[in-house]
Amino acid sequence: MTIEEWQSYSVYQIYPKSFNDANGDGFGDIEGIREKIPYLKKLGIDMIWITPIQPSPQKDNGYDISEYCAINPQYGTLLEFKQLLNDLHEVGIKLMMDMVLNHTSTEHQWFQAAKQSRSHPYHDYYIWQEGTPAQPPTNWQSKFGGSSWGYNEATAEYYLHLFDTTQADLNWRNPSVRAEIKKILRFWAELGVDGFRLDVINLISKPTLFLNDDEGDGRRFYTDGKQVESYLKELNEEIFSPYGILTVGEMSSTSMAACIEYTKPANNELSMTFNFHHLKVDYRDGDKWQLMPMNISALKALLSDWQRGMQAKGGWNALFWCNHDQPRIVSRYGNDSDEYRELSAKMLALVLHGLQGTPYIYQGEEIGMTNPDWHAIDEFEDVETLNQFELIQQKGQTADEAFAAVSARSRDNGRTPVQWDASQQAGFTTGKPWLKIASNYTKINVAECLSRADSIFYFYQKLIALRKVEATLITGQFRRYDRPEEGVFAYDRIAGDEVIRVVANFTDQPVVFEWATPIHLAETLLTNYEGDATNDQTKLTLRPYESIMWKGTVVV
Ligand code: GLC
Repeated sequence: MTIEEWQSYSVYQIYPKSFNDANGDGFGDIEGIREKIPYLKKLGIDMIWITPIQPSPQKDNGYDISEYCAINPQYGTLLEFKQLLNDLHEVGIKLMMDMVLNHTSTEHQWFQAAKQSRSHPYHDYYIWQEGTPAQPPTNWQSKFGGSSWGYNEATAEYYLHLFDTTQADLNWRNPSVRAEIKKILRFWAELGVDGFRLDVINLISKPTLFLNDDEGDGRRFYTDGKQVESYLKELNEEIFSPYGILTVGEMSSTSMAACIEYTKPANNELSMTFNFHHLKVDYRDGDKWQLMPMNISALKALLSDWQRGMQAKGGWNALFWCNHDQPRIVSRYGNDSDEYRELSAKMLALVLHGLQGTPYIYQGEEIGMTNPDWHAIDEFEDVETLNQFELIQQKGQTADEAFAAVSARSRDNGRTPVQWDASQQAGFTTGKPWLKIASNYTKINVAECLSRADSIFYFYQKLIALRKVEATLITGQFRRYDRPEEGVFAYDRIAGDEVIRVVANFTDQPVVFEWATPIHLAETLLTNYEGDATNDQTKLTLRPYESIMWKGTVVV
């Protein structure tokens, strides 16, 4: 396989609202990002992805855009954005913008006009169906709970909203909509933006007939729809390719077959895709709000299948544990106790960076930030969380049970402000933060990590650097070890006669592990324990959360 330069990139995701507040209003801002460029450079990442910073009523924290070619004044100005882009480029960091093109805010002028009358040209920018106030067109459920149809009195119709009632789905079938979308993308590409993260992009193609779903919530009718690929090809041909834009598509409830098509180079669609299957192995019966300990075997199987499957057909994965929609991984698949937080955070990092694909590190992950331990529902802000807190109770659970579910699963777990230092408000703001800071910030913060050579931060730094020098991490074939030892994930990456071997204990107990296939060991690339006591090839005892990455050659 020939390596494209971008395939060795590591991307760092910034949720600007919670990253760094330069003007003391309690909301992070563009200037706040600019202040931290040296920090990003030190980590060694190649690109940052910034979640939406366009004007928005913030019903879904910016994923409800009311104007596409401008900056939300809360974050700064277009001039400041250009300055940020310029300063990033000067130090060799690229910038990826988040593009929310499946839906707009209902405050967007298109929707404001569309809802007035059926004959307005903007009416056909959205998806409408007949219905009476008492009878929505289908039984489809919104991703945030409740019907996915909103009634509009003025036209006596329903509009489709797969997310919040204030996020109306765009009608991509309409060529004028696609022309507008290309205009928006071109605007940002012309400014010199290097990448696009395309929000829920596999939901853009809706059916023409709207049918009740008697098996589920409707997603099978609009997920990976018929036209997604042709729409992506169109955007690729006119925007992504001509401007040399790196793209990652966020894929909701997708399949591997679809992701292969979206990302295989010959198809000219996307560079890579996010899928979420590996982040559902702690959902009971696939329901996010029903808690269950994570199923390690399922996790290993999913990661392995996606590695092998995408590799076999030339697809490319975006690799990630965390983002702004997920609880913190160390509190979830790791162990956030004092004893094991650092070890398990490093183990998870090592496992992820050994895989094939492009790693995405979410702000705070590189210092092992945890879920906050909040005690009351009014500490939460997220629309999905607040909806679900009510819905779970309507389904018969107690308020305590509903609280236990949302506090484990809320997206706000990943949205608390970055803990920069031990000063008041964790150095995030001099004002009142928009979302409560996790109380462990005096102990877990960037300043502390930077002051200690064995911190999680420097572990991430090494992993990022390794991907630049070890080509096998980029190209190597994935080979999994299907061993009965449940808590251990072990795999090789093989290119020619070179092998990079990864082993990781996902448990808080020592585990004895035996290799089926020995290799000639050359060196230990990285480990999360001091010393290299476990360097015995055939049989090794892994300490709690121990993980090791070796380099060697195949034994013939
Ligand atoms: C994506 C975003 C999420 C948002 C949703 C609707 O999943 O990551 O934050 O709520 O799309 O735009």
